[in-house]
Amino acid sequence: MDFIHQFLSIIFPLLTTLLLLFFLPPYLLFKLLSYILRSFRPENVAGKVVLITGASSGIGEHLAYEYARKGARLALVARREDRLTEVADKARRLGSPDVLIIPADVSKPEHCKTFVDQAVNYFGCLDHLVSNAAVIRLSMFEDVTQISDFGGVMSTNFWGSVYGAHFAAPHLRKNRGKIIAIASIAGFMPFPKHCFYSAAKAALISFYEALRVEFGSDIGVTIVIPGLIYTDMVLQQSYSSEIQLDFLPGQSAEGCAKAIVRGACRGDTYLTEPAWYRTFWLLKMLCPELLDSFCRLVLIGKPRSAKKTS
Ligand SMILES: NC(=O)c1ccc[n+]([C@@H]2O[C@H](COP(=O)([O-])OP(=O)(O)OC[C@H]3O[C@@H](n4cnc5c(N)ncnc54)[C@H](OP(=O)(O)O)[C@@H]3O)[C@@H](O)[C@H]2O)c1
Repeated sequence: MDFIHQFLSIIFPLLTTLLLLFFLPPYLLFKLLSYILRSFRPENVAGKVVLITGASSGIGEHLAYEYARKGARLALVARREDRLTEVADKARRLGSPDVLIIPADVSKPEHCKTFVDQAVNYFGCLDHLVSNAAVIRLSMFEDVTQISDFGGVMSTNFWGSVYGAHFAAPHLRKNRGKIIAIASIAGFMPFPKHCFYSAAKAALISFYEALRVEFGSDIGVTIVIPGLIYTDMVLQQSYSSEIQLDFLPGQSAEGCAKAIVRGACRGDTYLTEPAWYRTFWLLKMLCPELLDSFCRLVLIGKPRSAKKTS
């Protein structure tokens, strides 16, 4: 048996490289043509029902405005009702024919069932679920005193999205709808101080990749990988004092939301925004050690020295 594996370890990469040399050019051409076709015939979301979690600020708020401009009917979910009311008013002014606000906490399964049921009972159907709500909490792993303090990151960013997808899937299937899952570049980049956030986002990416295969063409899944986007999440003092990101050009929440809605209507499977951040995937595959050093030096500023023990 060992011999078979040793043999395959040499032969399999060689054969794959050879195959890729022949397969890659027509495959990339096919992808380009399909992209152009989909760009010319995007889904028209006017009158469709879109449920957005985390719609009270940042990317979620601007997603609401972008869908509103296209005439979609909206169900907006977040914990802060006053902010949701303001976003809903602006969304109506921008062109949404009907907006429902549902104050809820996505980390609670019963809330997720309620907001999906309320949206479907009110509008009669569901076309897009935008799973966007998330929180961030930073710390070097060894500085954590209570691991359970970080449970909220997983229960909001991962389980919160899973519950929503679970309750929405039967309704989305009826309308051949879509899930737009907002992950993060932190889901594959080794950002220091982000270990719990990154783990939740990596889990989210894997979860939706598996769902995409299970759903087939019945429910589309667009996995969004935002890079640095200027929202409360990264502009808040507790983030900017911990992480040195001034060198990295970011994107506005509005620009990011426009790209997301365009990508969702086009039926993209993945969307990275800003698009050039995709290069980091390549670096991760080809020279992960380089990426480790880059993240360690640039994000922390200087390598972390060993803890004093005196
Ligand atoms: N900004 C970036 O650079 C960046 C980069 C990569 C990925 N992302 C992702 O983009 C998405 C949007 O983040 P953002 O940058 O727009 O941050 P944000 O402005 O802080 O928005 C987060 C939203 O999530 C909601 N939320 C948080 N916990 C919730 C809960 N338990 N239940 C319901 N809603 C909850 C918040 O509303 P309430 O507080 O009212 O509940 C808020 O509307 C997130 O998934 C984030 O991980 C952001």
